[in-house]
Amino acid sequence: MKLFSSVNDVTDVQALVKEALHLKQNPYAHQHLGKNKTLALIFLNPSLRTRMSTQKAGLNLGMNVMVLNMDKEGWALELRDGAVMNGGTVEHIREATAVLGQYADIVGVRSFPGLKDRDADYSEDIFNKFVKYCGIPVVSLESATRHPLQSLADLVTIEELKTRPRPKVVLTWAPHVKALPQAVPNSFAEWMCKADVDFTIAHPQGYELCSDFTQGAKITHNQQEALADADFIYVKNWSAYEPYGKVFGGYDGWMLTNDSLKNTNNAKVMHCLPVRRNLELSDEILDGQSSVVIHEAGNRVWAAQAVLKQMLESL
Ligand code: CP
Repeated sequence: MKLFSSVNDVTDVQALVKEALHLKQNPYAHQHLGKNKTLALIFLNPSLRTRMSTQKAGLNLGMNVMVLNMDKEGWALELRDGAVMNGGTVEHIREATAVLGQYADIVGVRSFPGLKDRDADYSEDIFNKFVKYCGIPVVSLESATRHPLQSLADLVTIEELKTRPRPKVVLTWAPHVKALPQAVPNSFAEWMCKADVDFTIAHPQGYELCSDFTQGAKITHNQQEALADADFIYVKNWSAYEPYGKVFGGYDGWMLTNDSLKNTNNAKVMHCLPVRRNLELSDEILDGQSSVVIHEAGNRVWAAQAVLKQMLESL
């Protein structure tokens, strides 16, 4: 594997999930693969889980790992081709990424969307420029439109915890005070549509995701109806795709409580974290038996390790 930017870069999704679960049992079995190989993790936005889990995954595989908070510690990046750089930007992304390619064997990059210009965000300009100019394999640590390492960890979690062969999985929108990207729900939907699950998306009117990511999903505006008989409930806020980046008020009732779970199949509640307590998800759920959010975050290591292992094997 030379590129991990979406589920479409994976030839066999089920095999990758199995690989992650195998690595969970045998974390250090492949240390020879990463010996004398370097992983560079480049963050243009904050992170706890993605940074630490991918770092740990690289270390488990015997790699050297370097982390750069490029937004704070790097030079101000110019993205525009042909720009006359007489303003605030100091280094063009062409040189910055090509230089990273000299120091590392695999690079990971996180670049969030601006949520102002949909075409610009959905063109994945920054991520694609990393891929184009760095000259080494690239793994997405969350891009403008997708978070594939998160989605792989989510699928690993579902595979591990399911109690029937084809579980019902519901992605439900949750309230928030800020406009958040669509990357996590886009990605989760895309992966679930390729998995052997019965998949439903529930959101208030106006929060339709881009249909490119939801082909094959059932979509409803009725949360309680969607939750009936659910095995897994994936809770996530996102801002509108149309009008882009907008937030509509009046949907506080979409926050799950224990009462919301009563018609489910003893559903396990998932969230990618970070989560705003008692806004997105209630204390009673996060602190109760149904929450698997910490288990899910733990699986980020094995998802990242499975992807890095495949990349190391292709060097
Ligand atoms: N879920 C997730 O990607 O968390 P971080 O933003 O902390 O990496």
